[in-house]
Amino acid sequence: MIDLRSDTVTRPTEAMRRAMAAAEVGDDVFGEDPTVERLQRDVAALLGKEAALFVPSGTMANQIALLVHARPGDEVVVSEGAHCAWYESGAGAAWAGVQFVVAGAGPVFDVDALEAAVKPRVYYYPRTSLVAFENTHNRGGGRVLPQATVEAVAARARALGLAVHLDGARLFNAAASSGRAVAELARPADTVSVCLSKGLGAPVGSLLAGDRERITAAHRFRKMLGGGMRQAGVLAAAGLHALAHHVARLADDHAHAARFAEAAAKSPRLAVQRPETNIVMVDVPGDPRDRPAEALAARAKEAGVLLSVFGAARLRAVTHLDVTGDECARAGEALASLAGG
Ligand SMILES: Cc1ncc(COP(=O)(O)O)c(C=O)c1O
Repeated sequence: MIDLRSDTVTRPTEAMRRAMAAAEVGDDVFGEDPTVERLQRDVAALLGKEAALFVPSGTMANQIALLVHARPGDEVVVSEGAHCAWYESGAGAAWAGVQFVVAGAGPVFDVDALEAAVKPRVYYYPRTSLVAFENTHNRGGGRVLPQATVEAVAARARALGLAVHLDGARLFNAAASSGRAVAELARPADTVSVCLSKGLGAPVGSLLAGDRERITAAHRFRKMLGGGMRQAGVLAAAGLHALAHHVARLADDHAHAARFAEAAAKSPRLAVQRPETNIVMVDVPGDPRDRPAEALAARAKEAGVLLSVFGAARLRAVTHLDVTGDECARAGEALASLAGG
């Protein structure tokens, strides 16, 4: 099987497993795990923030950010299709008690769209307290946000008294694609989350970074959500290994996504988005009421290719550490031949 459902399907390499086995550990709820401490220090430095907190998942990192920045009843401005509004089981409403307001259309929104989304400060409106970006943007097809727009929106948000969070689950992909350092991409944000378990290939783990005061607050919320882990150094060691060995190779994943896209686009019946990073969106012909994407995904599976159904007429392919460029090209060819011409 060529598994392109997600970059989360990777299995730890032998070298990563050795690093995990050799990790020095302690009880991290007591603040005594040296490997977790090192990971948190290294990631904070990499992102240009004062502190970072190791958490089990990207979802928990985002949810903690909402708890840190907003109060129940507040509004959070997000892009269309934002992960925290689509894929976190309604947690923003359940735990932080926030509601989401979508600014503009598509993965990027500008200052005008922000202004239109922010409610006046009158008591009967929800209080807008936070703007959340997503870079790269998952539902936006792995799109890298234009940094000048992010900076302009963040500056306006700050002037309006709003905090800024960056969901950087795939921030290292954005850095690889744009040639900018992750610290530069993170600079406009008060808090930034990054995932080790996606393109970086670690089995578990994300970090939330920001200033010391916010990360101290985040530490308490992590415990409240049940995210305090004990000898978590075993997992942190996988993250440290990933940062040392799997960042430079992300450009390969992007090249492999381009090969998949090029091969899939040989079918004139498929509308294939040109990838900027490791995600390729493919629109499938047919009446969306017949759910043509499901039918094509089922046929692709029979042909040995696993894809995600991302809408009634949309498929998503994601490249990662465990698929080669040739496999990606073969998967694209198989999809094109199934779709026909
Ligand atoms: C943009 C984005 N943010 C957050 C997450 C959540 O990460 P996790 O699956 O570790 O909860 C994902 C997962 O795919 C994601 O794509």
